[in-house]
This record gives sequence, structure tokens and C-alpha cells, in this order.
Amino acid sequence: MKILNSMMSSVRKMISQQYLPQEDIDRFLLVFGGHVFFQTLRAAVKFDLFTLLDNKRKMSFEEIRNELQIEEQPLHILLLGLTSIKLLTKKGDIYKNSRLAKHALSKNSDRNVLKYIDLQQEVYYRGMPYFYEALKTNKNVGLQAFPGDEDTIYERLHYEPEVKKIFQDAMHEISVQANEGLVESVDFSDTSSLVDVGGGDGTNIIAIAEKYSNIRAVVFDLPTIQEISEENMSKQGELSSRLSFHPGNCFQDPFPDSVDTILLCHFCTIWSKEKNIELFQKAYDALPTGGKLIIFNQMQDSDRTGPLVAAIGSPYFLTIATGQGMLYTWEEYTSWMQAAGFKDIQKHKLPIYHGAIVARKS
Ligand SMILES: C[S@@+](CC[C@H](N)C(=O)[O-])C[C@H]1O[C@@H](n2cnc3c(N)ncnc32)[C@H](O)[C@@H]1O
Repeated sequence: MKILNSMMSSVRKMISQQYLPQEDIDRFLLVFGGHVFFQTLRAAVKFDLFTLLDNKRKMSFEEIRNELQIEEQPLHILLLGLTSIKLLTKKGDIYKNSRLAKHALSKNSDRNVLKYIDLQQEVYYRGMPYFYEALKTNKNVGLQAFPGDEDTIYERLHYEPEVKKIFQDAMHEISVQANEGLVESVDFSDTSSLVDVGGGDGTNIIAIAEKYSNIRAVVFDLPTIQEISEENMSKQGELSSRLSFHPGNCFQDPFPDSVDTILLCHFCTIWSKEKNIELFQKAYDALPTGGKLIIFNQMQDSDRTGPLVAAIGSPYFLTIATGQGMLYTWEEYTSWMQAAGFKDIQKHKLPIYHGAIVARKS
């Protein structure tokens, strides 16, 4: 309590400094109160308020109260939070979704990020309080918030099937939206057999095999993912016959035989520089001449000042996931590919801060 009072007093002092622009103070308050604003967002998502407002277009305070069945004062608190962070607009007594809320938080939008909000709540919020300790020790000490004694979150998720599902659903959500850019920009027409290492529930190979009817594709992932992945593939009708799952650990087991393209989607961010080079070298050795290695994930800007998604994602890989990874720069990836022997390296800048890098074995 004493600490909180002294922090609030410091914030008040800062706010009273006339020489600080209001926008600087507001940005600081968004960071300072980040946990509160995230919980405000999550509560509104749990009530499904953004879909409700999307369906009705606009609602009065009383209409929202009747639908959500919240008492007056708590609802004032929730709506104050949502309007102050501009997820809702308010004119008189009438509330509407902001453009961003309609786009990203309504179930009606195919661009929504609702599953990712569940992931933030169930995984990030549990482990991230250990960030300071992770920085000091360079280890994923936040993993102690999850049952099990394995070294990575991916190996521990099976102890909590509901969290594993949240994780896979969130990965599916981001990958479905992001891989549109991958299949549009990267040419797979000379690929006949592809392995997606750490391919999860198969979302990415499904998108690629849908566009390229000559491709057979396999997910190579931990055995704990097999059931979810095979279930997802089996729902793909005729396409299913060209999709399969190969269980294993990519650092301990060989890649599946006879593939001409190796894909790493949202995977290199998990591992250290050394592990990535080991993986790229293993890919080089497994590919035939002319074969391709493709990496696809969000990228850090070359000058190491952003974007925000890289700054948000990187602490998770250090503190919780593996204790090794981060969102790397384009230059880091290309230099590791060159070190492994790859040539003809091409970069594709894609939407949602994503990038793909295609490298060839010559
Ligand atoms: C961040 S998810 C990415 C999933 C998928 N590639 C996508 O883009 O949606 C990382 C995946 O890597 C898998 N994984 C982690 N360690 C692995 C290992 N040593 N060998 C193979 N797969 C692994 C996890 O099970 C998980 O499915």
C-alpha cells in the first residue's frame, strides 16, 4: 500500500510538470497501467461486448447494462476504461465500437485477435512477472508458473490441455491471417514435397497445399501436438490425402525423407542464434541441390528500435517459452543462412509485421 501510494504520488508529480507534453504523459500512463487496461480489454471480451455492439451498431448505457447483467457502478468502471483507451466511443449516452474494436475484437470480423487475448491471459500474464529474473539469469524462469519439469513451454503444455488448446487456437488465429501474405508472395511452384518444422496444427501447410495442388506437405512437430494436428488435417476434405504429421524433435531426430522445401514458420523466434544456425545447417544437409529453406515470422527492424510487436514478443521467448529466442532482424537471419551455405537469398516484406526469407541450396 505504501509503495502504491508513493508510486501514485510520483505519477501525480510527473503529470503536474507543465513542460511535459500531454501525449508523453498519456503514453506513460498506458504503459504504467498496462495491466489494468489489458484486464479491461479482457473483461469486455469475456462479456463479448464488442460483438454485441457490432451487431447492434450502437447502445445506450441501460441497454448494455441489461445485456451484460452488470450493476451500474461496475459498468461505469468498465465503460470508462474502454472509452479512455478508445476501444469504444461515447456520444451523450450512446456507445459504439471504435474502428479498431470492430476490426480486431468482434467475433464477426475474420481479422479478430480474440484467441490471442486468451493466450495473453493464460500464458503471458502467468510467466511475465519473472522478466527481471529472466534478464538477470538469461533463463526462462517464468516457466516455473507452469507444471512439469521440461525445459520449454511447448513440452509442458500437455499437462494443461485447456491451456494447450488456447495456445494452438491463438497460433492458428495469427497464422491463418499472416500466411495469406506467405502464399501470395512466395512462389512454391517448384516445390513438390515440403516439411513444416514446428508446424503445429498444420495451418500453414493447409494454406500452401490449397493453392498448390502438386504439393505433398508434412508437419514435423513434437508428439504432444500430433492429435490436434491430425484432427485439423482430417477436416480438410480431399486435401487431407496430401497432408501428414511426422512426430519428433527437430534437434534430435532427422527431418522426414525426400523433401525439397523446408519451412520454419514462427519457429526461429523460439531459439538462440546457435540453435538457429544448427537448424539451418541441418536443413542444408537434408535438402537436395536446388532445394529451399523458407523462414516466416514477424521481424525486428534493422535498427533495433521496433516495431512494437517485436518488443512485446521477444520478452516472452526469454522469460517463458525457451529462454533463448527473440524476434530477430532480417540481417541476422540472412547471415545465419549464409553461414549454413545457402545462396540466392530473397526477402519478402509481408503484412502484419511479417517477413519471409527464401534461401536456396545450390
Ligand atoms: C510458435 S508455435 C508455431 C506453430 C506453427 N508453425 C505456426 O506458425 O502456427 C511453435 C511450434 O514449435 C513446436 N516445437 C517446439 N519445439 C520443437 C522441437 N524441438 N521440434 C519440433 N517442434 C517443436 C511446438 O510444438 C509448436 O507447435
